[in-house]
Amino acid sequence: MNDSGASEARLTATPAGVRLGPLDTIADGAARNFVLQMRAGRFHGFIVRRGDAVHGYVDRCPHMGLPLAQALDAYLTPDGIHIACSWHGAVFAVENGLCLGGPCTGQRLTPWPVTVTDGQIVTATSDRD
Ligand code: FES
Repeated sequence: MNDSGASEARLTATPAGVRLGPLDTIADGAARNFVLQMRAGRFHGFIVRRGDAVHGYVDRCPHMGLPLAQALDAYLTPDGIHIACSWHGAVFAVENGLCLGGPCTGQRLTPWPVTVTDGQIVTATSDRD
């Protein structure tokens, strides 16, 4: 890649309160990629929707640090039950990002805290800090 010009830092967190659009932009049971351009750099994440709940993660596999999907929004196993990395087959739990199988078993995706407020997906603060 040749990102000429200003250095393009890849961020692993976002401020709270960034509006990401209506919940309905993600079909129930599906996942969607989000890229946020901020002054400090660019953030790549994805969100999985389960009914009215959303689960967000940084788009970086703990195995080799690659973005999980090689096709747009292709973050899930064919049955839609788990998150899958397209590179070497790591499989993750939707609810907590724990790697259940593959080359990084026992490691976790980095959470990207997101919530739904008045039908809108919004970034949140980490409730682990
Ligand atoms: S980079 Fe995800 S399984 Fe290897």
